[in-house]
Amino acid sequence: MYLTSYQNTYSSLTIVLMLRIAIQKSGRLTDESLELMQECGIDFAKSGGKLKAAAYNFPVEFLFLRDDDIPEYVADGVADVGIIGENVIAEERPSLQRPVDIIERLGFSRCRLSLAVPKGAAYSSVQDLQGKRIATSFPNILNEFLQQHGVQSEIHEISGSVEIAPSIGLADAICDIVSSGSTLLSNGLSEVETIFRSEAVLISRPLSPEKQHIVDDLRFRIQSVGRAKKNKYIILNAPSEALPAIMALLPGMKSPTVTPLATSGWNAVHSVVPEDTFWEIIGKLKEAGAEGILVVPIEKMIL
Ligand code: PRP
Ligand code: ZN
Repeated sequence: MYLTSYQNTYSSLTIVLMLRIAIQKSGRLTDESLELMQECGIDFAKSGGKLKAAAYNFPVEFLFLRDDDIPEYVADGVADVGIIGENVIAEERPSLQRPVDIIERLGFSRCRLSLAVPKGAAYSSVQDLQGKRIATSFPNILNEFLQQHGVQSEIHEISGSVEIAPSIGLADAICDIVSSGSTLLSNGLSEVETIFRSEAVLISRPLSPEKQHIVDDLRFRIQSVGRAKKNKYIILNAPSEALPAIMALLPGMKSPTVTPLATSGWNAVHSVVPEDTFWEIIGKLKEAGAEGILVVPIEKMIL
């Protein structure tokens, strides 16, 4: 339907309806956001420094922006959807003039928002922060956490390099993004509370049915890619008498495929196994009599 019509119009260079996707220009989300678009089969030329790029084979246009600006650009309609850290949208949502929703969790760029104090500082609970100065770029999330714990602190909002605030005497503690923990370590800080867990998410404003159609197609692709990453395709040989035990271990998308081998009494079994239980299942399959087990990555998985 729209797929054929947009391809026709697109190739004849007529101006067509395009969905505008905001992506972080450079930072923790950038590489994986672009990789995801590629895995979704969306091709475009990203030349360094350019702020805009249109895809060749899907009706989207990318805007490369600072991550902190993305929620507002989506709310204002400059972009239609955006890929952003959940921490950023959670922080900015209360101050947005128009609604913006998380429509898909993307599973990458996982990090946490934590409270940290100088190494060696006395800390037994969040109550110890009563009346203390905390530097952060996330005042809304921090404030909500402190309120929930009945703690009143002085929140100092700073936009970057939060981790140096204690050492220059600006704050007693910080609340900042932690991923590997190396920034805290190199600044002599210890993490004392995790207040928010974050991953990359797709956000959207309410859209026209035409644009919503493109978003639905994009989400369908994202989900197929995500599902594929969480599963492996497995092929093994099994003697017929071992089949019941092996079948019981393999869920498959419906049920495993079993085909007889040229050698009588032997079968090839094909199935799909979730990544997280994969090693456990492999061990059990071997015990049950499986041989020659091949494991293959899945590129897309469509239900
Ligand atoms: C965050 C945070 C720290 C660093 C922590 O900055 O402010 O500087 O990441 O990561 P680590 O635990 O792996 O050392 P971010 O990369 O989000 O940059 P930004 O604040 O400029 O957006
Ligand atoms: Zn940022």
